[in-house]
Amino acid sequence: MRDKPVEELTEIEASRELRMLAKEIAAHDKRYYTDEAPIVTDADYDLLRRRNEAIEARFPDKVRKDSPSKRVGAPAAISQGFAKIRHAVPMLSLQNAFDDADVTEFETRIRRFLSLDEAEPISLVAEAKIDGLSLSVRYIDGKLERAATRGDGEEGEDVTANVRTIEDIPETLPAGAPAVLEVRGEVYLSHSEFRRINQEREAESAALYVNPRNAASGALRQLDATITASRRLQFFAYSWGELSAPLAETQFEALQRLAEFGFSINPLTDACDGAAGALATYAKIGEARPNLDYDIDGVVYKVDRLDWQDRLGKVSRAPRWATAHKFAAEQAETKLLAIDLQVGRTGAITPVARLKPVFVGGVTVSNATLHNAGEIERKGILIGDTVTIQRAGDVIPQVVGPVMAKRPDDAQAFKFPETCPVCGSEVTRGVDGQDAVARCSGGMVCKAQRLERLKHFVSRNAFDIEGLGGKRVEELIERDLVQSPADFFRLEARVRSGEINPGEWEGWGETSVTNLFAAIEQRRVIGFDRFLFGLGMRQIGETTARLLARHYGDLLNLRTAMDTAAAPESEAYQDLLAIDGIGDGVAADLVAFFHEPQNQEILDALANELTIEPVEAPANVASAISGRTIVFTGGLEAMSRGEAKARAEALGAKVVGSVSKKTDVVVAGTDAGSKAKKAAELGLEIWTEAEWLAVAAGEQSA
Ligand code: IVH
Repeated sequence: MRDKPVEELTEIEASRELRMLAKEIAAHDKRYYTDEAPIVTDADYDLLRRRNEAIEARFPDKVRKDSPSKRVGAPAAISQGFAKIRHAVPMLSLQNAFDDADVTEFETRIRRFLSLDEAEPISLVAEAKIDGLSLSVRYIDGKLERAATRGDGEEGEDVTANVRTIEDIPETLPAGAPAVLEVRGEVYLSHSEFRRINQEREAESAALYVNPRNAASGALRQLDATITASRRLQFFAYSWGELSAPLAETQFEALQRLAEFGFSINPLTDACDGAAGALATYAKIGEARPNLDYDIDGVVYKVDRLDWQDRLGKVSRAPRWATAHKFAAEQAETKLLAIDLQVGRTGAITPVARLKPVFVGGVTVSNATLHNAGEIERKGILIGDTVTIQRAGDVIPQVVGPVMAKRPDDAQAFKFPETCPVCGSEVTRGVDGQDAVARCSGGMVCKAQRLERLKHFVSRNAFDIEGLGGKRVEELIERDLVQSPADFFRLEARVRSGEINPGEWEGWGETSVTNLFAAIEQRRVIGFDRFLFGLGMRQIGETTARLLARHYGDLLNLRTAMDTAAAPESEAYQDLLAIDGIGDGVAADLVAFFHEPQNQEILDALANELTIEPVEAPANVASAISGRTIVFTGGLEAMSRGEAKARAEALGAKVVGSVSKKTDVVVAGTDAGSKAKKAAELGLEIWTEAEWLAVAAGEQSA
């Protein structure tokens, strides 16, 4: 039918073809934007669009509601997706509490950090945790200016046009609202609207959304705002970003003010007294949950006093003043059909349960994690067993254990292999062979480890190479073009020299290849912390990578230190341990990583391709302690050790746990013992608590 000239199409043929084109183009758009894995060239894609336009021009009354031509500015958007917006204040995530003890611990931590005594009440606000997407809406002089998704917390997508179609979000604010106000909250879909959208999609033979959250995401991230408008998105406000004037003195009052400005505040919100009050509210919200017309996946507790929120600050990307108490996972029973093995980035081999599909926690589950080799043994799970599985929120479904009463006679034990199922290298279980985790010892020789390490390397919080999704990395490995991270940076030269020609590969259109090379080129200059995180070392998350980057300054320094840190008694090893947050386990893994010849080659090759920049010192650099190394010892009266550490770091200092020649300042509180003595012996600067407080309050400058 495609080959028939448009002039010769009958009306029926035209309708049928328009319907197919709409579906096909939408599928290509999804592959391009969401999956980052297009399967047609840009030229072929353009042909489809032009054919669609030509048919519509001849049969104007056959133009469909979901026609690709209705997507305003589609061609520009097609090559760019949504514009990026940097959040003026980062959008944080939350730490989690899973049981009552975690909630009590949350209160204890706050008390300790703020040095509050037991008698001091801590008022909390409990809010339903809405299972949607977080959004930041910026108002200037009372007018909606910009709206952005959370993205990676630092940078989100500009969804302003779509957000203007959401009824719960006012276009203008009443007089009295701060001149600059960023309102944050959750966009969600009601259950009834979710069902309506899926019915509509079923009628159009479009793929169904698995749950309201995915449907809300689909509706918000439409390039065509008219589609967003046709789906009734809703919004609850619960937080804020940049503000030109404070909203109130407490979280509770701040929410009331947002309500006065015209925002919806979740009606289940309640003030409560400490952990005990929080738990009572949790029970109440849990009871209300089955009757709500939207999904909630827990309760968020926030310290009510905003001055306390400020003092508590954040750790990594989550505030210390809030926690999310998740609802217990939903459980179901199903049959364990088989166990497959997956080799991860660091060689850990994860057994994955293949299950008879079962509906639980809002989705159909057919795979669940068994975590590690030890877990199968510990839980005594046999293949053929009926097992209990559970799923909560976004977490991977888990196998809880076997249902013994339903064990069939022919159930069989799973034998963990002694060699890697991917590369055949030896499988090890720690030095004593007793570790719960079984690991492939093949390193980058193992195709699975290589793929995962390379995917991690280009991922968002590491090198963040746009246009290089998992599928593409996989293909580059398949084509034997990338074995080690540095190879990404050599691709363009190989194309230029004519050695390879991506134009010949399906799905690698000229535009996307040009964009990809530009994105790779941009990352030749990279911060030392991102670089370290990108290496994908065991136990080195973003926070630890940042600590290491700050401590060692540059790669050469770090490598030299690791060279001499093999012996635990060496000064280099002790210096590594002195970094607050690095214990023996992490230190040993790090040293092992830098000693491994394969890794040394990877580092040499990367050092040749990249310019690695030292990490920027934290914001308040003009303080008496910025760039200096500080040790707190002895008791502090005015603030807890935790608060002192956080404050010193915010002022640009490096806080370490033990005194050495490299320490600049020792703050000696009451009963400071051996550390103060050592500091005196080394002739270091020693401050009293009062001197520290003066610096902490910013009265002294460098
Ligand atoms: S507060 C600094 N409050 O949960 C404040 N988050 O798991 C950070 N969420 O990214 C968020 N309901 O998308 C907050 N009442 C609520 C919430 C809520 C849902 C989401 C939000 C956040 C995620 C963290």
